[in-house]
Amino acid sequence: MIHVNENYAKLQASYLFAEIARRIRAYEAENPPRPIIRMGIGDVTEPLPPACVAAMHRAVDEMAARETFRGYGPEQGYAFLREAIAANDFQARGADIAADEIFVSDGAKCDTANIQELFADNIRIAVPDPVYPVYVDTNVMAGRTGPAVDGRYAGLVYLDGSAENGFVPPLPAEAVDLIYLCFPNNPTGATATREQLTAWVDYARANKALILFDAAYEAFIRDPSIPHSIFEIPGARECAIEFRSFSKTAGFTGTRCAFTVIPKDCHAYTAKGEPVALHPMWMRRHTTKFNGVSYPVQRAAEAVYSPEGQKQVRDIIDFYLGNAAIVRETMRKLGLSAVGGENSPYIWVRTGGSSWDFFDRLLRECQVVVTPGAGFGRCGEGYIRISAFNSRANVEEAMARLSALRAAE
Ligand SMILES: Cc1ncc(COP(=O)(O)O)c(C=O)c1O
Repeated sequence: MIHVNENYAKLQASYLFAEIARRIRAYEAENPPRPIIRMGIGDVTEPLPPACVAAMHRAVDEMAARETFRGYGPEQGYAFLREAIAANDFQARGADIAADEIFVSDGAKCDTANIQELFADNIRIAVPDPVYPVYVDTNVMAGRTGPAVDGRYAGLVYLDGSAENGFVPPLPAEAVDLIYLCFPNNPTGATATREQLTAWVDYARANKALILFDAAYEAFIRDPSIPHSIFEIPGARECAIEFRSFSKTAGFTGTRCAFTVIPKDCHAYTAKGEPVALHPMWMRRHTTKFNGVSYPVQRAAEAVYSPEGQKQVRDIIDFYLGNAAIVRETMRKLGLSAVGGENSPYIWVRTGGSSWDFFDRLLRECQVVVTPGAGFGRCGEGYIRISAFNSRANVEEAMARLSALRAAE
């Protein structure tokens, strides 16, 4: 008899964004009085940078001619892209990362989910709360948790984020083996200082733990004192894996290209306590289960690092940060406290009360979609996430609608 993976039955409700889409569809069927503005899902709205488009066109032409056609490429990515990443994203910032420590992939979402294949079933896992739901749900699917009780899975160590700690999770009181960190943070927009990241690296080294560092929003950092990579912190090569993506950096959400950095010094341990390097393990996994990102997409990603590409990417991100500033300013005028939005595309707004009720109210009364904080964990209750990924006209219209609702109260 074929048995199902019963861990799936432990998952709570549907994936957050599927539930949001369901509520929007139900409301749309009632013919809302004006178009709905979506400030919820963190998908980009600006087109690909022209330098990336030109590089992709050239690569498509190469694929069209017998002399320059390419079939399967290296599973871990073409050298031209890995070298550009290592030089620009790491070595230029003083982070000692080599091209062969980079694995190009089709998404940080799948990499953050798949990486746990390398670890034993019985490890202790710490996740921040609020949290990007993928880290939690994929561990539930893999059977690393017990059932959910009051919205939290038994067996996970939750690190509570709050206004008091600036949504930078505190070190765990107990010893844990695997720690998920995400900075700039989704959903709170928080960033971690060099001192805070150093405390995490020191903790991981002292406990022989591993940090999974998700830096998908790194390109939004404008404050020069904030590290872009965990590998800017001494000692991180031994105890951290970093995930990056071109999705938010260069508008690749529909194009798909990302990468994972596993330094050769990074180890986990056998049950007997013997160190095992994670780089060859991931290489084995990647080459066995993945056949590489398409050549035109890797050429487009490489173009991000050209002088024109760098300028275009910066301009696009400046545009989103301009949206974020408008949202922050509106929240301030409305008397709502908000964090994020300065080195991040997300603004995390304290609303009080039930965040799903607030979501429904904004949908029905303003025809504006935000993301309810409760969807990111218990500590997200009483908050909403507003995304800066939108046209300027939509951001201004959405903020005008929210202001009008407040004025009518
Ligand atoms: C924190 C975080 N990591 C990863 C991803 C997904 O990145 P990708 O598009 O590369 O799969 C997202 C997307 O929203 C994200 O918010």
